[in-house]
Amino acid sequence: MQKVITIDGPSASGKGTVAARVAAHLGWAYLDSGALYRLTALFAKNQQIAWNNEAELAKLAARLPVQFDGQKIFLNQKDVTNEIRIEAIGMGASEVAKLPGVRLALLQRQRDFLTERGLVADGRDMGSVVFPDACLKIFLTAPPEIRAQRRAKQINISLQGVEFEKILADIQARDEADRNRAVAPLQRLPDTLLLDTSDLTIEESVKKVLDWYSKKN
Ligand code: C5P
Repeated sequence: MQKVITIDGPSASGKGTVAARVAAHLGWAYLDSGALYRLTALFAKNQQIAWNNEAELAKLAARLPVQFDGQKIFLNQKDVTNEIRIEAIGMGASEVAKLPGVRLALLQRQRDFLTERGLVADGRDMGSVVFPDACLKIFLTAPPEIRAQRRAKQINISLQGVEFEKILADIQARDEADRNRAVAPLQRLPDTLLLDTSDLTIEESVKKVLDWYSKKN
């Protein structure tokens, strides 16, 4: 068993925030695997490589000039922390993530985040593919409407109207693409614990994960 906690789940579920806080609490490293797919999509866009050009994308993914520096992410020395979060890049990430060559190129890179201290990793296939021997595997989710409401509140958008409808539609489109792809689809496997955060605050979700971990040890 590896000293790894995996937190997989759909987009905008808050898994990144929960995973980062659990890692900070335990003093473990943290891997935001979605950022690697986002960086691949952004790097490709900057180099005018199409998001379906598997051979070129796999080469790019294998040599992403990325640096993680605390909260900040640098690509080719440029701070892209905010740029990779925009929804167009999220959609691009979802496109490039369909390609087996890209996933393979990123596999070892993700595994290299594991240190002796331990690792909390969030994404779509952390428990199923990247760290199948993790000591605790969680599937963190909430209904799309709740995820859209949280995202809207975060960016100060009214919960009614076209802007909100667009956020909800984007979340549903990305869920759909991630669930229905042939390789490493988003799915809840039987060896994962389900954490439905519909009625939980971030702190309560973090506590739940820490409780599960302490019961395992
Ligand atoms: O988690 P995040 O929204 O940043 O991920 C962006 C996209 O990257 C996802 O929609 C998904 O298609 C892809 N991804 C993936 N496998 C992971 C993490 C992210 O396919 N482990």
